[in-house]
Amino acid sequence: MDKIQINGGRRLTGEVTISGAKNAALPLIASSILVNGKSTFTNVPKLMDIVSIKKLLEDLGAGCTFENSTLTVDGAGIHKIEAEYELVRKMRASILVLGPLVARFGHAKVSMPGGCAIGARPVNMHLSGLEALGATISMDHGYIEAKADRLIGNDIYFDIPTVTGTENLMMAAVLAKGASTLRNAAREPEIVCLADALTQMGAKISGAGTPIISIEGVDHLTPASVNVIPDRIEAGTFMVAAAATRGDVVVKGCIPDHIGGIISKLKATGATIEIAGNQVRVKGSDIIKSVDIKTQPYPGFPTDMQAQFMALMTIANGNSTIHESIFENRFIHANELLRMGADISISNGNYAMVRGKDRLQAAPVMASDLRASASLVIAGLIAEGTTLISRVYHMDRGYEGIEKKFSSLGADIRRIQ
Ligand code: EPZ
Repeated sequence: MDKIQINGGRRLTGEVTISGAKNAALPLIASSILVNGKSTFTNVPKLMDIVSIKKLLEDLGAGCTFENSTLTVDGAGIHKIEAEYELVRKMRASILVLGPLVARFGHAKVSMPGGCAIGARPVNMHLSGLEALGATISMDHGYIEAKADRLIGNDIYFDIPTVTGTENLMMAAVLAKGASTLRNAAREPEIVCLADALTQMGAKISGAGTPIISIEGVDHLTPASVNVIPDRIEAGTFMVAAAATRGDVVVKGCIPDHIGGIISKLKATGATIEIAGNQVRVKGSDIIKSVDIKTQPYPGFPTDMQAQFMALMTIANGNSTIHESIFENRFIHANELLRMGADISISNGNYAMVRGKDRLQAAPVMASDLRASASLVIAGLIAEGTTLISRVYHMDRGYEGIEKKFSSLGADIRRIQ
Protein backbone atom coordinates (compact mmCIF):
# COMPACT_ATOMS: atom_id res chain seq x y z
CA MET A 1 0.00 0.00 0.00
CA ASP A 2 1.21 3.51 -0.82
CA LYS A 3 2.56 5.84 1.83
CA ILE A 4 3.16 9.58 1.83
CA GLN A 5 6.55 10.82 3.06
CA ILE A 6 6.93 14.45 4.13
CA ASN A 7 10.04 16.34 5.28
CA GLY A 8 8.48 19.14 7.28
CA GLY A 9 9.45 22.72 8.01
CA ARG A 10 8.97 24.36 4.61
CA ARG A 11 6.73 27.37 4.00
CA LEU A 12 4.16 26.82 1.24
CA THR A 13 4.27 29.49 -1.46
CA GLY A 14 2.79 29.86 -4.93
CA GLU A 15 -0.52 29.00 -6.59
CA VAL A 16 -2.74 25.92 -6.53
CA THR A 17 -5.84 25.24 -8.64
CA ILE A 18 -8.83 23.54 -7.04
CA SER A 19 -10.44 20.47 -8.64
CA GLY A 20 -14.14 19.73 -9.02
CA ALA A 21 -15.99 18.82 -5.82
CA LYS A 22 -16.29 15.10 -5.00
CA ASN A 23 -19.45 15.77 -2.97
CA ALA A 24 -21.05 17.63 -5.88
CA ALA A 25 -20.00 15.13 -8.55
CA LEU A 26 -21.37 12.06 -6.75
CA PRO A 27 -25.04 13.17 -6.57
CA LEU A 28 -24.81 14.69 -10.06
CA ILE A 29 -23.62 11.38 -11.50
CA ALA A 30 -26.39 9.55 -9.60
CA SER A 31 -28.98 11.95 -11.09
CA SER A 32 -28.18 10.67 -14.59
CA ILE A 33 -30.15 7.53 -13.60
CA LEU A 34 -33.29 9.64 -13.87
CA VAL A 35 -32.79 10.24 -17.59
CA ASN A 36 -33.31 7.97 -20.60
CA GLY A 37 -30.34 9.49 -22.44
CA LYS A 38 -26.73 10.62 -22.17
CA SER A 39 -25.81 13.28 -19.59
CA THR A 40 -22.40 14.98 -19.52
CA PHE A 41 -20.49 16.19 -16.47
CA THR A 42 -17.38 18.35 -16.78
CA ASN A 43 -14.71 19.29 -14.20
CA VAL A 44 -15.15 15.86 -12.59
CA PRO A 45 -12.22 15.11 -10.25
CA LYS A 46 -10.17 11.95 -10.87
CA LEU A 47 -10.83 10.23 -7.53
CA MET A 48 -11.40 6.71 -6.30
CA ASP A 49 -14.97 7.60 -5.27
CA ILE A 50 -15.74 8.71 -8.83
CA VAL A 51 -14.35 5.44 -10.17
CA SER A 52 -16.55 3.61 -7.64
CA ILE A 53 -19.80 5.29 -8.64
CA LYS A 54 -18.94 4.91 -12.34
CA LYS A 55 -18.50 1.15 -11.75
CA LEU A 56 -21.82 1.05 -9.91
CA LEU A 57 -23.70 2.78 -12.73
CA GLU A 58 -22.04 0.52 -15.32
CA ASP A 59 -23.13 -2.49 -13.27
CA LEU A 60 -26.71 -1.18 -13.49
CA GLY A 61 -26.32 -1.05 -17.28
CA ALA A 62 -25.54 2.62 -17.87
CA GLY A 63 -22.96 3.40 -20.55
CA CYS A 64 -20.18 5.53 -19.02
CA THR A 65 -17.07 7.23 -20.36
CA PHE A 66 -14.57 9.22 -18.25
CA GLU A 67 -11.70 11.09 -19.82
CA ASN A 68 -10.00 14.46 -19.24
CA SER A 69 -12.28 15.19 -16.29
CA THR A 70 -15.41 14.79 -18.45
CA LEU A 71 -17.75 11.97 -17.48
CA THR A 72 -20.74 10.94 -19.60
CA VAL A 73 -23.50 8.62 -18.38
CA ASP A 74 -26.12 7.15 -20.71
CA GLY A 75 -29.08 6.21 -18.54
CA ALA A 76 -30.86 4.58 -21.50
CA GLY A 77 -29.01 1.34 -20.92
CA ILE A 78 -30.01 0.83 -17.29
CA HIS A 79 -31.69 -2.59 -16.96
CA LYS A 80 -30.88 -3.49 -13.36
CA ILE A 81 -32.22 -1.89 -10.19
CA GLU A 82 -29.94 -3.60 -7.68
CA ALA A 83 -26.79 -1.92 -6.31
CA GLU A 84 -24.59 -4.77 -5.15
CA TYR A 85 -23.00 -4.97 -1.68
CA GLU A 86 -19.51 -5.39 -3.16
CA LEU A 87 -19.83 -2.01 -4.86
CA VAL A 88 -21.78 -0.14 -2.15
CA ARG A 89 -19.45 -1.20 0.69
CA LYS A 90 -16.61 0.64 -1.04
CA MET A 91 -18.48 3.92 -0.89
CA ARG A 92 -21.38 4.90 1.37
CA ALA A 93 -22.48 7.62 -1.02
CA SER A 94 -23.78 4.79 -3.26
CA ILE A 95 -27.00 5.28 -1.29
CA LEU A 96 -27.56 8.19 -3.70
CA VAL A 97 -28.74 5.77 -6.41
CA LEU A 98 -31.72 4.71 -4.28
CA GLY A 99 -33.91 7.77 -4.89
CA PRO A 100 -33.34 8.02 -8.65
CA LEU A 101 -33.83 4.27 -9.20
CA VAL A 102 -37.17 4.10 -7.40
CA ALA A 103 -38.26 7.39 -9.01
CA ARG A 104 -37.62 6.22 -12.56
CA PHE A 105 -38.18 2.44 -12.31
CA GLY A 106 -40.53 2.12 -9.33
CA HIS A 107 -38.18 -0.40 -7.75
CA ALA A 108 -34.70 -0.34 -6.19
CA LYS A 109 -32.54 -2.68 -4.15
CA VAL A 110 -29.50 -1.03 -2.60
CA SER A 111 -27.18 -2.65 -0.10
CA MET A 112 -27.52 -0.98 3.28
CA PRO A 113 -24.39 1.16 3.58
CA GLY A 114 -22.36 0.20 6.64
CA GLY A 115 -20.96 2.72 9.06
CA CYS A 116 -17.52 4.16 8.68
CA ALA A 117 -14.70 5.40 10.89
CA ILE A 118 -16.39 8.70 11.72
CA GLY A 119 -19.76 7.36 12.76
CA ALA A 120 -22.73 5.00 12.36
CA ARG A 121 -23.98 7.03 9.38
CA PRO A 122 -27.61 5.87 9.49
CA VAL A 123 -29.89 6.45 6.47
CA ASN A 124 -33.21 6.45 8.34
CA MET A 125 -34.14 9.89 7.01
CA HIS A 126 -33.54 8.77 3.43
CA LEU A 127 -35.93 5.85 3.98
CA SER A 128 -38.63 7.71 5.90
CA GLY A 129 -38.57 10.38 3.18
CA LEU A 130 -39.17 7.77 0.48
CA GLU A 131 -41.98 6.27 2.55
CA ALA A 132 -43.54 9.73 2.77
CA LEU A 133 -43.50 9.73 -1.03
CA GLY A 134 -45.44 6.45 -1.02
CA ALA A 135 -42.64 3.93 -1.42
CA THR A 136 -42.80 0.67 0.53
CA ILE A 137 -39.46 0.03 2.18
CA SER A 138 -38.30 -3.39 3.34
CA MET A 139 -35.00 -4.89 4.48
CA ASP A 140 -33.88 -8.12 2.85
CA HIS A 141 -30.57 -9.72 3.92
CA GLY A 142 -28.68 -6.44 4.18
CA TYR A 143 -30.43 -4.84 1.23
CA ILE A 144 -32.87 -1.94 1.29
CA GLU A 145 -35.76 -2.62 -1.11
CA ALA A 146 -37.93 0.31 -2.17
CA LYS A 147 -41.04 -0.11 -4.34
CA ALA A 148 -43.67 2.29 -5.67
CA ASP A 149 -45.91 2.18 -8.76
CA ARG A 150 -45.32 5.92 -8.86
CA LEU A 151 -44.07 8.16 -6.09
CA ILE A 152 -46.62 10.70 -4.84
CA GLY A 153 -45.50 14.20 -3.80
CA ASN A 154 -45.66 15.00 -0.08
CA ASP A 155 -44.24 17.11 2.75
CA ILE A 156 -40.95 15.73 4.11
CA TYR A 157 -39.34 17.01 7.32
CA PHE A 158 -35.72 16.19 8.18
CA ASP A 159 -34.86 15.99 11.91
CA ILE A 160 -31.29 16.88 10.88
CA PRO A 161 -30.39 18.77 7.67
CA THR A 162 -28.91 15.67 6.00
CA VAL A 163 -26.85 16.42 2.87
CA THR A 164 -27.24 13.16 0.93
CA GLY A 165 -30.72 12.71 2.42
CA THR A 166 -31.77 16.03 0.87
CA GLU A 167 -30.10 15.03 -2.41
CA ASN A 168 -31.73 11.58 -2.48
CA LEU A 169 -35.21 12.94 -1.79
CA MET A 170 -34.82 15.79 -4.31
CA MET A 171 -33.97 13.20 -6.98
CA ALA A 172 -36.97 11.09 -5.93
CA ALA A 173 -39.48 13.94 -5.74
CA VAL A 174 -38.72 15.45 -9.17
CA LEU A 175 -40.48 12.50 -10.89
CA ALA A 176 -43.23 12.06 -8.28
CA LYS A 177 -46.85 12.86 -9.08
CA GLY A 178 -47.69 16.23 -7.55
CA ALA A 179 -45.86 18.63 -5.26
CA SER A 180 -43.32 17.94 -2.52
CA THR A 181 -41.74 20.17 0.12
CA LEU A 182 -38.48 19.28 1.85
CA ARG A 183 -38.31 21.03 5.24
CA ASN A 184 -35.14 21.53 7.27
CA ALA A 185 -33.29 20.64 4.08
CA ALA A 186 -29.50 20.87 3.88
CA ARG A 187 -28.22 24.10 2.32
CA GLU A 188 -24.77 23.06 1.10
CA PRO A 189 -23.57 24.42 -2.27
CA GLU A 190 -23.58 20.84 -3.55
CA ILE A 191 -27.38 20.79 -3.06
CA VAL A 192 -27.73 23.92 -5.19
CA CYS A 193 -25.45 22.44 -7.86
CA LEU A 194 -27.67 19.31 -8.01
CA ALA A 195 -30.88 21.36 -8.11
CA ASP A 196 -29.47 23.41 -11.01
CA ALA A 197 -28.67 20.20 -12.90
CA LEU A 198 -32.13 18.72 -12.24
CA THR A 199 -33.72 21.98 -13.39
CA GLN A 200 -31.68 21.76 -16.60
CA MET A 201 -33.13 18.23 -17.02
CA GLY A 202 -36.63 19.72 -16.83
CA ALA A 203 -37.38 19.42 -13.11
CA LYS A 204 -39.36 22.11 -11.30
CA ILE A 205 -37.47 23.02 -8.10
CA SER A 206 -37.32 26.20 -6.02
CA GLY A 207 -35.61 27.02 -2.73
CA ALA A 208 -32.45 24.92 -3.09
CA GLY A 209 -29.86 26.42 -0.75
CA THR A 210 -32.56 27.37 1.76
CA PRO A 211 -34.11 25.14 4.47
CA ILE A 212 -37.33 24.74 2.45
CA ILE A 213 -37.16 23.21 -1.03
CA SER A 214 -40.35 23.04 -3.13
CA ILE A 215 -40.62 20.56 -5.99
CA GLU A 216 -43.39 20.09 -8.58
CA GLY A 217 -43.11 16.56 -9.99
CA VAL A 218 -42.88 16.07 -13.78
CA ASP A 219 -43.40 12.97 -15.92
CA HIS A 220 -39.92 12.67 -17.40
CA LEU A 221 -36.56 14.40 -17.62
CA THR A 222 -34.09 14.98 -20.43
CA PRO A 223 -30.25 14.78 -20.42
CA ALA A 224 -28.17 17.62 -18.99
CA SER A 225 -24.67 18.94 -19.46
CA VAL A 226 -23.34 20.12 -16.10
CA ASN A 227 -20.07 21.62 -14.83
CA VAL A 228 -19.11 20.41 -11.34
CA ILE A 229 -18.53 23.23 -8.84
CA PRO A 230 -15.05 23.53 -7.27
CA ASP A 231 -14.29 21.59 -4.10
CA ARG A 232 -14.69 23.96 -1.15
CA ILE A 233 -13.12 21.43 1.24
CA GLU A 234 -10.04 20.98 -0.95
CA ALA A 235 -9.78 24.79 -1.10
CA GLY A 236 -10.07 25.01 2.68
CA THR A 237 -7.48 22.29 3.14
CA PHE A 238 -4.86 24.21 1.14
CA MET A 239 -5.76 27.47 2.92
CA VAL A 240 -5.27 25.89 6.35
CA ALA A 241 -1.99 24.32 5.19
CA ALA A 242 -0.79 27.75 4.01
CA ALA A 243 -1.59 29.26 7.41
CA ALA A 244 0.02 26.35 9.29
CA THR A 245 3.32 26.69 7.38
CA ARG A 246 3.27 30.52 7.70
CA GLY A 247 3.19 30.47 3.91
CA ASP A 248 1.77 32.64 1.16
CA VAL A 249 -0.53 30.72 -1.18
CA VAL A 250 -3.07 31.72 -3.82
CA VAL A 251 -5.91 29.19 -4.08
CA LYS A 252 -7.32 29.49 -7.62
CA GLY A 253 -10.60 28.35 -9.16
CA CYS A 254 -12.58 28.34 -5.92
CA ILE A 255 -15.85 30.07 -4.98
CA PRO A 256 -15.09 32.34 -1.98
CA ASP A 257 -18.77 32.51 -1.12
CA HIS A 258 -18.71 28.77 -0.38
CA ILE A 259 -15.89 29.03 2.17
CA GLY A 260 -17.02 31.97 4.29
CA GLY A 261 -16.89 29.99 7.53
CA ILE A 262 -13.35 28.81 6.84
CA ILE A 263 -12.19 32.29 5.86
CA SER A 264 -13.57 33.91 9.01
CA LYS A 265 -11.90 31.32 11.27
CA LEU A 266 -8.56 31.63 9.44
CA LYS A 267 -8.71 35.41 9.81
CA ALA A 268 -9.27 34.88 13.55
CA THR A 269 -5.98 32.95 13.70
CA GLY A 270 -4.23 36.05 12.37
CA ALA A 271 -3.86 34.96 8.75
CA THR A 272 -4.27 37.62 6.07
CA ILE A 273 -6.92 36.72 3.48
CA GLU A 274 -7.23 38.54 0.13
CA ILE A 275 -10.20 37.65 -2.09
CA ALA A 276 -10.14 38.47 -5.83
CA GLY A 277 -12.84 36.87 -7.98
CA ASN A 278 -12.35 33.11 -7.84
CA GLN A 279 -8.99 33.36 -6.09
CA VAL A 280 -8.20 33.52 -2.39
CA ARG A 281 -4.71 34.46 -1.14
CA VAL A 282 -3.74 33.25 2.32
CA LYS A 283 -0.70 34.65 4.13
CA GLY A 284 -0.02 32.89 7.40
CA SER A 285 0.94 34.87 10.49
CA ASP A 286 4.05 34.04 12.54
CA ILE A 287 1.93 34.02 15.69
CA ILE A 288 -1.04 31.69 15.12
CA LYS A 289 -3.83 32.70 17.47
CA SER A 290 -5.87 29.92 19.08
CA VAL A 291 -9.49 29.85 17.87
CA ASP A 292 -12.50 27.88 19.09
CA ILE A 293 -14.63 26.12 16.46
CA LYS A 294 -17.93 24.26 16.39
CA THR A 295 -18.79 22.26 13.29
CA GLN A 296 -22.27 22.91 11.91
CA PRO A 297 -24.36 22.37 8.77
CA TYR A 298 -23.65 24.84 5.96
CA PRO A 299 -23.09 27.79 6.13
CA GLY A 300 -21.49 26.98 9.50
CA PHE A 301 -17.92 25.75 9.87
CA PRO A 302 -17.84 22.47 7.92
CA THR A 303 -17.23 19.19 9.73
CA ASP A 304 -15.11 18.17 6.74
CA MET A 305 -12.63 20.89 7.76
CA GLN A 306 -12.45 20.01 11.47
CA ALA A 307 -9.50 17.62 11.28
CA GLN A 308 -7.44 20.01 9.15
CA PHE A 309 -8.13 22.92 11.50
CA MET A 310 -7.18 20.81 14.52
CA ALA A 311 -3.74 20.26 12.96
CA LEU A 312 -3.35 24.04 12.70
CA MET A 313 -4.41 24.57 16.31
CA THR A 314 -1.75 22.16 17.59
CA ILE A 315 0.84 24.93 17.01
CA ALA A 316 -1.36 27.88 17.97
CA ASN A 317 -0.33 30.36 20.67
CA GLY A 318 -2.85 29.27 23.30
CA ASN A 319 -5.64 26.76 23.86
CA SER A 320 -8.57 26.12 21.51
CA THR A 321 -11.72 24.04 21.87
CA ILE A 322 -13.12 22.07 18.96
CA HIS A 323 -16.74 20.93 19.19
CA GLU A 324 -17.63 18.29 16.59
CA SER A 325 -21.42 18.50 16.53
CA ILE A 326 -22.17 16.51 13.34
CA PHE A 327 -20.49 13.11 13.70
CA GLU A 328 -20.05 11.03 16.84
CA ASN A 329 -16.53 9.76 16.20
CA ARG A 330 -14.62 12.30 14.18
CA PHE A 331 -11.52 12.79 16.36
CA ILE A 332 -9.58 9.69 15.31
CA HIS A 333 -6.89 11.93 13.81
CA ALA A 334 -6.28 13.38 17.31
CA ASN A 335 -4.63 10.13 18.42
CA GLU A 336 -2.19 10.34 15.51
CA LEU A 337 -1.49 14.02 16.19
CA LEU A 338 -0.68 13.06 19.81
CA ARG A 339 2.00 10.72 18.42
CA MET A 340 3.53 13.82 16.80
CA GLY A 341 3.74 15.63 20.11
CA ALA A 342 0.46 17.55 20.01
CA ASP A 343 -1.32 18.25 23.30
CA ILE A 344 -4.99 17.32 22.82
CA SER A 345 -7.59 16.01 25.25
CA ILE A 346 -11.03 14.73 24.24
CA SER A 347 -14.04 14.93 26.54
CA ASN A 348 -17.42 13.20 26.19
CA GLY A 349 -16.71 12.19 22.63
CA ASN A 350 -17.17 15.41 20.76
CA TYR A 351 -15.21 18.12 22.55
CA ALA A 352 -11.45 18.47 22.02
CA MET A 353 -9.17 20.81 23.95
CA VAL A 354 -6.06 21.60 21.91
CA ARG A 355 -3.19 23.20 23.85
CA GLY A 356 -0.92 24.91 21.34
CA LYS A 357 2.78 24.01 21.27
CA ASP A 358 5.79 25.49 19.51
CA ARG A 359 6.19 22.61 17.12
CA LEU A 360 5.30 19.01 16.29
CA GLN A 361 7.76 16.15 15.83
CA ALA A 362 7.64 13.93 12.77
CA ALA A 363 6.50 10.34 13.33
CA PRO A 364 5.05 7.38 11.44
CA VAL A 365 1.24 7.85 11.51
CA MET A 366 -1.81 6.16 10.03
CA ALA A 367 -4.73 7.71 8.14
CA SER A 368 -8.18 6.52 9.28
CA ASP A 369 -10.54 8.43 6.97
CA LEU A 370 -10.48 10.97 4.18
CA ARG A 371 -10.22 14.21 6.13
CA ALA A 372 -8.04 12.73 8.88
CA SER A 373 -5.47 11.95 6.19
CA ALA A 374 -5.49 15.63 5.14
CA SER A 375 -4.96 16.59 8.77
CA LEU A 376 -1.89 14.34 8.98
CA VAL A 377 -0.45 15.84 5.79
CA ILE A 378 -0.74 19.32 7.30
CA ALA A 379 0.86 18.05 10.52
CA GLY A 380 3.68 16.49 8.49
CA LEU A 381 4.27 19.77 6.67
CA ILE A 382 4.82 21.61 9.97
CA ALA A 383 6.60 18.87 11.96
CA GLU A 384 10.38 18.71 12.31
CA GLY A 385 11.74 15.69 10.51
CA THR A 386 10.32 13.04 8.20
CA THR A 387 6.69 11.99 8.65
CA LEU A 388 5.44 8.78 7.04
CA ILE A 389 1.66 8.45 6.57
CA SER A 390 0.24 4.98 5.86
CA ARG A 391 -3.18 3.94 4.48
CA VAL A 392 -3.23 6.91 2.09
CA TYR A 393 -5.91 5.15 0.05
CA HIS A 394 -8.26 7.09 2.33
CA MET A 395 -6.87 10.31 0.89
CA ASP A 396 -7.08 9.12 -2.71
CA ARG A 397 -10.85 8.88 -2.30
CA GLY A 398 -11.24 12.65 -2.04
CA TYR A 399 -8.11 14.57 -3.08
CA GLU A 400 -6.92 14.60 -6.70
CA GLY A 401 -3.11 14.35 -6.85
CA ILE A 402 -2.69 16.01 -3.48
CA GLU A 403 1.05 15.32 -3.12
CA LYS A 404 1.72 16.83 -6.57
CA LYS A 405 -0.23 19.94 -5.63
CA PHE A 406 1.57 20.35 -2.31
CA SER A 407 4.90 19.67 -4.01
CA SER A 408 4.17 22.47 -6.51
CA LEU A 409 3.79 24.77 -3.49
CA GLY A 410 7.29 23.88 -2.29
CA ALA A 411 6.53 21.04 0.10
CA ASP A 412 9.04 18.20 0.34
CA ILE A 413 6.43 15.46 -0.12
CA ARG A 414 6.40 12.26 -2.12
CA ARG A 415 4.37 9.08 -2.50
CA ILE A 416 6.28 5.87 -1.87
CA GLN A 417 5.12 2.36 -2.68
C1 EPZ B 1 -22.26 14.32 3.51
O1 EPZ B 1 -22.40 13.08 4.17
C2 EPZ B 1 -20.84 14.34 2.96
N1 EPZ B 1 -20.68 13.26 1.99
C3 EPZ B 1 -19.84 14.20 4.10
O2 EPZ B 1 -18.53 14.31 3.56
C4 EPZ B 1 -20.06 15.35 5.08
O3 EPZ B 1 -19.19 15.19 6.19
C5 EPZ B 1 -21.52 15.34 5.57
O4 EPZ B 1 -22.41 15.40 4.44
C6 EPZ B 1 -21.83 16.51 6.49
O5 EPZ B 1 -21.56 17.71 5.83
C7 EPZ B 1 -21.18 13.42 0.73
O6 EPZ B 1 -21.76 14.45 0.41
C8 EPZ B 1 -20.97 12.29 -0.21
P1 EPZ B 1 -25.40 13.88 6.60
P2 EPZ B 1 -23.88 12.59 4.63
O7 EPZ B 1 -26.50 12.99 6.16
O8 EPZ B 1 -24.90 13.11 3.72
C9 EPZ B 1 -27.03 11.99 10.61
C10 EPZ B 1 -16.30 13.72 3.20
O9 EPZ B 1 -15.33 13.71 3.95
N2 EPZ B 1 -27.98 11.27 9.76
O10 EPZ B 1 -25.50 15.35 6.32
O11 EPZ B 1 -23.79 11.13 4.87
C11 EPZ B 1 -25.59 11.57 10.38
O12 EPZ B 1 -25.27 10.43 11.16
C12 EPZ B 1 -17.64 13.19 3.68
O13 EPZ B 1 -16.31 14.17 2.02
C13 EPZ B 1 -28.97 10.49 10.35
O14 EPZ B 1 -29.03 10.37 11.57
O15 EPZ B 1 -24.03 13.35 6.03
C14 EPZ B 1 -24.82 12.79 10.81
O16 EPZ B 1 -24.69 12.78 12.22
C15 EPZ B 1 -17.54 12.64 5.09
N3 EPZ B 1 -29.88 9.86 9.56
C16 EPZ B 1 -25.74 13.95 10.42
O17 EPZ B 1 -27.05 13.37 10.24
C17 EPZ B 1 -29.85 9.96 8.18
O18 EPZ B 1 -30.73 9.37 7.51
C18 EPZ B 1 -25.36 14.65 9.12
O19 EPZ B 1 -25.16 13.63 8.17
C19 EPZ B 1 -28.84 10.74 7.59
C20 EPZ B 1 -27.93 11.39 8.39
